[in-house]
Amino acid sequence: MKVLVVGNGGREHAIAFKLLQSSKVEQVFCAPGNGGTATLARCQNLALGVNDFTAIGQFAQDNNIDLIVIGPEIPLALGITDYLQNRGIKVFGPSRAGAQIEASKAWAKALMADGGIPTAKAAVFTDAAAARGYVEAGSVPIVIKADGLAAGKGVIVASTVEEAHRAINSIFQGQFGSAGKFVLVEECLIGQEVSVIALTDGISIRPLLPAQDHKRIGDGDTGDNTGGMGAYAPAPLITPELMAKIEVEVLQKAIATLRDRNIDYRGVLYAGLMVSPKGEFKVLEFNCRFGDPETQAILPLLETPLEDLLLACVEKRLGEMPAIAWKSGAACCVVASANGYPGEYSKGEAISGITSAEGLTDTYIFQAGTKQLEGQIVTDGGRVLGVTGIGSNFVQAIDCAYAAINCIHFQGMYYRRDIGYRVKK
Ligand code: AMP
Ligand code: GLY
Repeated sequence: MKVLVVGNGGREHAIAFKLLQSSKVEQVFCAPGNGGTATLARCQNLALGVNDFTAIGQFAQDNNIDLIVIGPEIPLALGITDYLQNRGIKVFGPSRAGAQIEASKAWAKALMADGGIPTAKAAVFTDAAAARGYVEAGSVPIVIKADGLAAGKGVIVASTVEEAHRAINSIFQGQFGSAGKFVLVEECLIGQEVSVIALTDGISIRPLLPAQDHKRIGDGDTGDNTGGMGAYAPAPLITPELMAKIEVEVLQKAIATLRDRNIDYRGVLYAGLMVSPKGEFKVLEFNCRFGDPETQAILPLLETPLEDLLLACVEKRLGEMPAIAWKSGAACCVVASANGYPGEYSKGEAISGITSAEGLTDTYIFQAGTKQLEGQIVTDGGRVLGVTGIGSNFVQAIDCAYAAINCIHFQGMYYRRDIGYRVKK
């Protein structure tokens, strides 16, 4: 079987790597891939942009690709699945209509209200004065969100009314472009965030291992929000009993409500949840794709062949699949970023030590913002690498990840020293 993976992050490296572990997958192509996917055996990067639907479709048809897996949200929101399916190609990832669950927070809120899915109380505004008035009538902290896709930057947790006003004004003034046509003002939830990433064929749902990521740049979960600086799985906070409840009250309700809207949702349904100290959960957001870096922690523990699960989603027979098999134990992924990320950073720094890190047992080096330049891997993005360790418990997994990251060096390399602190015991 030949699979084409669309995207160039650490998530896509992990997906390509996992697919290639199966003898049934003869070849993987990545559009455009990164320095890591370029070095995988039986994997080839294609110089095609993630939104170049025509070229991706043409390549798939010319090369008899059996399955296309879409990594990032933007092509999904732009309708890549609809485009490719219309050409008779099998695609893992929801249609444009389904991707609204991530691409419009107002749309997702309406879906949650219709489906009776627990979520933070929120109001949607189309003008700044009304939004500011609502903030003044409420209490702080309060959360201000741009409606559309904003690369994880469109959410401001405001601790004062002035901060909330500034956020509202800047979103309406176009800080996030058309993502800011609507503003949501939302109740601030407290607790721990968990990522429940599930596979679905639009009828059945199979959650993967629950994960937690560390969104802030600094140790102790301080400083600016990032795309994610590290993750671990399975999150012990989500007991089997809690997962069963989340499946019924969040995932199944979401799929049923999507079906009510005539949306045949096939792909990943990712619920970002806040779990309160009492174990109550509410949805913070839905995503229509695998999490990054959660995927880099989850997939190394997966034993069921990934292509079997993805194809079962596309072919609407997920319900016939046996339960997903997992390695016992734990995984932890530590992200190495470029100096300055999530702000300005430089690119093109030579990376050394990847081969020695790969030589350690129970470690996986997933590349993200990297590329190959004249035979050398160099930095090419903010989040450069995700280094995953696995072990029979979290202490071992975390130690493996840090032992591997200690082998790697590039100018300005930064990583958090405390990934997994909540579970390191
Ligand atoms: P979102 O893209 O909606 O998940 O928001 C990005 C981040 O903002 C989340 O991962 C949380 O850390 C934070 N956040 C979003 N909504 C809320 C909320 N209602 N209460 C507290 N924090 C939130
Ligand atoms: N790690 C958070 C996300 O993928 O949205």
